[in-house]
Amino acid sequence: MLCQRQRKILPQLTKGVWRRGLVTFRLSPPGSTSPPFDPPEDFFPDLVFARAVVRCFGQVAAAEIASRCAEVVALAGHRYDRIHVWKRDERIEADCEAIRSGLLTLLAAGPAGCRPQATAPAEPGDLVLDIVIDSPERWWVGWHRAGRLHTCWPGGAYPHALPPDKVSRAWLKLDEALATHELLLPPGGRAVELGAAPGGACQRLLEAQQLVTAIDPALVDPRVAALPGFVQWRKRARDVRLKEFRGFDWIVADMNIDPVSTLEAIGRIVTAPGVHPQGIIATLKLPQWSRAEALDTWLDQFRSWGFVPQARQLFSGGREICVVARRQRLRSSQSTGHPATHRRGR
Ligand SMILES: C[S@@+](CC[C@H](N)C(=O)[O-])C[C@H]1O[C@@H](n2cnc3c(N)ncnc32)[C@H](O)[C@@H]1O
Repeated sequence: MLCQRQRKILPQLTKGVWRRGLVTFRLSPPGSTSPPFDPPEDFFPDLVFARAVVRCFGQVAAAEIASRCAEVVALAGHRYDRIHVWKRDERIEADCEAIRSGLLTLLAAGPAGCRPQATAPAEPGDLVLDIVIDSPERWWVGWHRAGRLHTCWPGGAYPHALPPDKVSRAWLKLDEALATHELLLPPGGRAVELGAAPGGACQRLLEAQQLVTAIDPALVDPRVAALPGFVQWRKRARDVRLKEFRGFDWIVADMNIDPVSTLEAIGRIVTAPGVHPQGIIATLKLPQWSRAEALDTWLDQFRSWGFVPQARQLFSGGREICVVARRQRLRSSQSTGHPATHRRGR
């Protein structure tokens, strides 16, 4: 699916190496004499299925780790703010932290002023040296400039685990979606979730001090159901009358149904009279990966409802796409007096 997205958005690239968790693209075809293609800075979000994007210097494959680290410095130079070391596949045996600290020592011994920070998570603007472990003996060496939050995490991997007191993995998925999209839900907002049981996402919304309505024929875990600010309607989404959806700020959807049915359920709600949420967080489950070929059509539906969608396959999610869609703001000169542009001074 990643290559299919790349062919759509950057057809100038040609596929190089392809392994589980790693794809390389050439900026010019082998043997070409024309200048290499210079990809735009902002193509990363449109790739949807890429956790991290790195510009590559090449590979190192010396026999000993210390010699490989020396090769990295010879290839990439010294001037970095951070070092990220990550595996293309978690099953590869390599100690990323030991490699990172070996490189830190080497870079610190270089020219004055070239001293990467000791901690791995980057800050926006940092120049990051990336070491991608392809096999214990072969590393790819590259760099990226940290920008949006997930580009600050080594390999784009969400750096948090599911806390033991959460009732489902959906807690972590929503936590990652909020962090990745830098969504701050103002306390006291109202959120409704379609497909809410057993209730991990509702738990996360309640922690963000939202008033939460869960819609699901299945029962929400009693530990969540007992929390203040929570109510469940034990129904399917289509059995809820449209006027009941008035006054919600966020529509969250995580139903284990086909993406087209999820979109139908959301579209029915957000196009109803008097329903003006400011955002949607939707999980589109992919029964087969190939279903994602329709992604652009699905995103157009969000646009047709007046939202600006961003899609990403989350690190903590499975075979699914998370779409975060914020309501499109009208410029003040274009304001129509529509109530959606004048609500509660947000
Ligand atoms: C992946 S689970 C949801 C996990 C949940 N978001 C959480 O935080 O734990 C999918 C849920 O969708 C519900 N579901 C499926 N079709 C539905 C529909 N038409 N309306 C409401 N809920 C639906 C199922 O009953 C199931 O509980």
